[in-house]
Amino acid sequence: MPFPTPNKDLPFNIVRVSHMEWGVTDMDYAKEFYGDIIGYHMEEDLGTELYFRGMEERNHHSLVLVKSDVPVVKRLGLKVASAADLDKAADYFASLGQPTQWTEKHAQGRTLHTRDPFGVPLELFYKMDWAADIMQKYPLYHGSRVTRIDHCNMFHNNVNAAVDFYVKELGFRITETTVANINDPASPQVATWVHRKGGVHDLAFTNGTGPRMHHLGIYNATAHDIINFCDLLATSGHTSAFERGPGRHGISNAFFLYIRDQDGFRTELFASDYLTVDPDLPPRVWDLKDPQRQTLWGQAAPRSWFEEGMPFDGCAQQASELDITPIIAPD
Ligand SMILES: [Fe+2]
Repeated sequence: MPFPTPNKDLPFNIVRVSHMEWGVTDMDYAKEFYGDIIGYHMEEDLGTELYFRGMEERNHHSLVLVKSDVPVVKRLGLKVASAADLDKAADYFASLGQPTQWTEKHAQGRTLHTRDPFGVPLELFYKMDWAADIMQKYPLYHGSRVTRIDHCNMFHNNVNAAVDFYVKELGFRITETTVANINDPASPQVATWVHRKGGVHDLAFTNGTGPRMHHLGIYNATAHDIINFCDLLATSGHTSAFERGPGRHGISNAFFLYIRDQDGFRTELFASDYLTVDPDLPPRVWDLKDPQRQTLWGQAAPRSWFEEGMPFDGCAQQASELDITPIIAPD
């Protein structure tokens, strides 16, 4: 089954997905839910802006929550390899006819604001402020013991087109994909995982009305951290936050749990995927009707999983033209 070949002659070098910025409606709730319960380290509280990071991250933030009248995904953050790559990125997006704007962002300095060809608001930077090394400050660990950001998964109305852009243009590599019919070489992609950093993914594109954010994936060191977190969530007044799992994915082989906050933002706690640094690693290909694709143990995802996501700021959404139906758990 042919898949696009990653660009080796990069217009600029993306290291990885670095952070996201969300507009949330209740800062007090957000501070408790993401800081105290989920277990991010709160690096800085500016009142109307909260800066969170994982325990092993040295960059100042991997999740920024800002006060907003309506819940919205403000930006997807990408770290590039050098200051020169940032200038090359500006030239590249301008050559596509995309808007480009330079700004100075708190704790990350010179930052490029632009949009991908589908309207997703991007924020590219090279050098964030370094924060203190707290990886072995074990008394600070709490909640799910968030290690680091892992990925952003988004609904996309045209998965093939999104993958073509990020792989053939920006050099992302495909690790896993789902097709509508695995026996049809021309079958469209339904969900595809792509990376720059050497894990299973930095970005995932899932068929549906989009672009919309599906979830932010954060990395936990072990599955036990996630299981212990389930007990914590269940006994701290947050049972309504459970959406799916815990379980083990077929795709990615990772242990997972999906939770949602009161604005609807979905977070995946994600542990133990696999190394993907070999540039010739062949993609794993799944059929949409394989019940072990979503969850290796066979449980289907709920309807909300396939239908509900968060808007990107200023990004028009379109319905998917694919006539396909995934396996959905009974309501
Ligand atoms: Fe995920």
